[in-house]
Amino acid sequence: MANTVLVGAQWGDEGKGKIIDVLAEEADWVVRYQGGNNAGHTVEIGADRYVLHLIPSGILHDGKRCIIGNGVVVDPVALLEEIDGIEQRGIRTGGRLFVSDRAHLVFPYHKRIDEYREQKPATGAKIGTTKRGIGPTYGDKAARVGLRAGDLLEPHFADMLRQRIETNNKIIATFGGPPLDVEQTVETYRAVAARLTPYVADTIPMVHQAISRKEPILFEGAQGTLLDIDYGTYPFVTSSNATSGGACTGSGVPPHRVDRVIGVIKAYSTRVGEGPFPTELKDEMGERLRKIGNEFGATTGRPRRCGWFDLVVARYSAMVNGIDDWAVTKLDVLDDVDEIKVCVAYEFDGRRYETLPASVRVLEGCRPVYESFSGWRCSTKEARARDELPAACREYLAALARLTGAPISILSNGPRRENTLRLDRAGSMIAP
Ligand code: IMP
Repeated sequence: MANTVLVGAQWGDEGKGKIIDVLAEEADWVVRYQGGNNAGHTVEIGADRYVLHLIPSGILHDGKRCIIGNGVVVDPVALLEEIDGIEQRGIRTGGRLFVSDRAHLVFPYHKRIDEYREQKPATGAKIGTTKRGIGPTYGDKAARVGLRAGDLLEPHFADMLRQRIETNNKIIATFGGPPLDVEQTVETYRAVAARLTPYVADTIPMVHQAISRKEPILFEGAQGTLLDIDYGTYPFVTSSNATSGGACTGSGVPPHRVDRVIGVIKAYSTRVGEGPFPTELKDEMGERLRKIGNEFGATTGRPRRCGWFDLVVARYSAMVNGIDDWAVTKLDVLDDVDEIKVCVAYEFDGRRYETLPASVRVLEGCRPVYESFSGWRCSTKEARARDELPAACREYLAALARLTGAPISILSNGPRRENTLRLDRAGSMIAP
């Protein structure tokens, strides 16, 4: 396997966790490069179900080493809970999981401020965040007042944290909230620091040594392209670069050492939280997709908004990520649909848009232009090869490849590892 970046090409929740789990088998290293425990990657292995928020899904494969890169924001308490949870299930993390000493840390004041900003948004528009403190932590990073995992090892860590809590208590007071108990919080994080210290490392040389030893690395993106702070539907986005470029800034891998970029797309669209969603279905079909696709957030349990596949989004994602090939997920959710629609363009104010407009006003007001495909009306779950898929399904997939300009290399037709068709391995990629 080459060094591969795997990114979500829609609004997150594309089913990346499962594809990463499948690809991790061929990698030596799995590296998370952005986001935090706002992510929720679900993996089903036999009767076991794992939901990972910070730890790369590669940890579920014996012997694979995992890095939480410098671009990730780490809630140390949440990370320790996750470590304890998987260790209790017999998965060893010592010597296999490394947290970059440059990764910024999420503290309770970040979470409080995230909540208050949602309750009283400065612009009047709620983002619908996961309230995990992600935005305020990246805000501190950009303002150069954040604390990093490496600071846990510094002798003056307690003093630094004390100072940050005092400053943030003043911000909390402006929202009318109660202050955090400074000494109690410092004590809690002293204990956290002691437990997390063995995992903290300079992960950049690790990435480079892996490259020089030709040990394949899988870079695991979280969220999705349309939630990227630069390329997404701003301001209804997360606060990191969820696109492929984020792998470089968030892990230390040079751009020319990335060999392949795989985009994950669901066979339809979903979004959680607020913000524009041109192909959203607020009718019975939307309900049906939510129910059949079990579209409820892995982190917050919130129902996901559902809609038809959006080619404007997919083409834009292919462009900004440099997608080499697609992994298409949740194909089986469309098994019972008579007529499948795909949005090929938007229309707004007499103008046709074939690439994603920056304006939220246009995205919210536009009319999606649809092309229809006939459904296949039978189960695809049992298919183990491309030729076992019904003809109408193959036509739908061929259209997605043709209209996005990238081939389909992986198909997921159910939640389990075995419900995965590796077209790239079988020499049966669906070409554009
Ligand atoms: P934040 O990342 O918690 O600040 O939330 C910002 C936006 O990103 C909200 O609309 C969230 O619902 C969305 N979001 C954050 N993480 C995920 C994810 O892993 N999947 C899907 N949406 C997410």
